[in-house]
Amino acid sequence: HGVARAAERAAARPAGWAEQTPVVEARGLEIEYPGRFGRPGFRAVDGVDLVIRPGEVLGLVGESGSGKTTIGRAIAGLTKVTGGSLQVLGHEMLGIRERRFRPARSRIGFVFQDPASSFNPLLTIAECVAEPLVIHDRAVDARDARPRVDELLEAVQLPASYGDRYPHELSGGQRQRASLARAIALEPELLIADEPTSALDVSVQARVLELFAELQREFGFASLFISHDLAVVDLLADRIAVLYRGKLVEEGTPAEVLGSPADPYTQRLLASLPVPDPVAQADRREQLRRLREEGGR
Ligand SMILES: Nc1ncnc2c1ncn2[C@@H]1O[C@H](COP(=O)(O)OP(=O)(O)OP(=O)(O)O)[C@@H](O)[C@H]1O
Ligand SMILES: [Mg+2]
Repeated sequence: HGVARAAERAAARPAGWAEQTPVVEARGLEIEYPGRFGRPGFRAVDGVDLVIRPGEVLGLVGESGSGKTTIGRAIAGLTKVTGGSLQVLGHEMLGIRERRFRPARSRIGFVFQDPASSFNPLLTIAECVAEPLVIHDRAVDARDARPRVDELLEAVQLPASYGDRYPHELSGGQRQRASLARAIALEPELLIADEPTSALDVSVQARVLELFAELQREFGFASLFISHDLAVVDLLADRIAVLYRGKLVEEGTPAEVLGSPADPYTQRLLASLPVPDPVAQADRREQLRRLREEGGR
């Protein structure tokens, strides 16, 4: 069960882990989208405090429109912070210039919800996966990057020959594997995963989540894992944060948040979130349990 997994992971942390500098630290974070035509702006994120420590998976849940993607994009430097403080890999994001944050970008990986739109349809999978390596000068071009790309495809359990295919020639689950390969290409310290499996059907979802858990264990990156699905964050997250209309209403371990939600909003929210298919969920858990055993945990 996910709660047990979080406890196990917590017990395995080295001494002094909690004192390490967080990868992400938000204090009173505010993000306001500008209003159009002189109308007032919209505050999508309102006074959020959160911390992600090295190697930790923070599950961010909340109903549609609660501000999850906005927070993920702000951490990636893609959306402007308008108030409070957001520290990402030692950079204060409030008022930062794009140029100053660019080097830190190479230390952050992304996986988005829709694998179809996250790849350039004109490039082969190998060229897509090679992109960050080329942009950040780890390879001259896609051909030069190919040996590393093959390794990455292997890490996400795709045959190297799939590198020669185009994005539309892969299934949704395979494309999401390829986008994981691209996201980890530079061995990021932080991986932002914005609903990476919600466009996939349940059986495919399970395998991609399993892969995420395996890669996270192997590479040890910290992660902001955004999802609607409480069963998913319960399985993967060390801590869960619940967002409601731009405010954080609950934060704690899976046992704390799912077991005894303190906030009335959270209780309502938990009840309103989609209840996962119990059979699929049991199946997912069983797969993850086996994976953990094979991994010596
Ligand atoms: N570029 C934008 N300009 C203005 N408002 C925006 C913009 N992007 C998002 N919003 C608004 O900010 C709020 C939060 O949006 P966000 O995409 O962060 O929600 P979310 O929690 O990711 O939702 P979902 O689960 O549907 O993906 C929403 O009310 C949305 O309409
Ligand atoms: Mg979103």
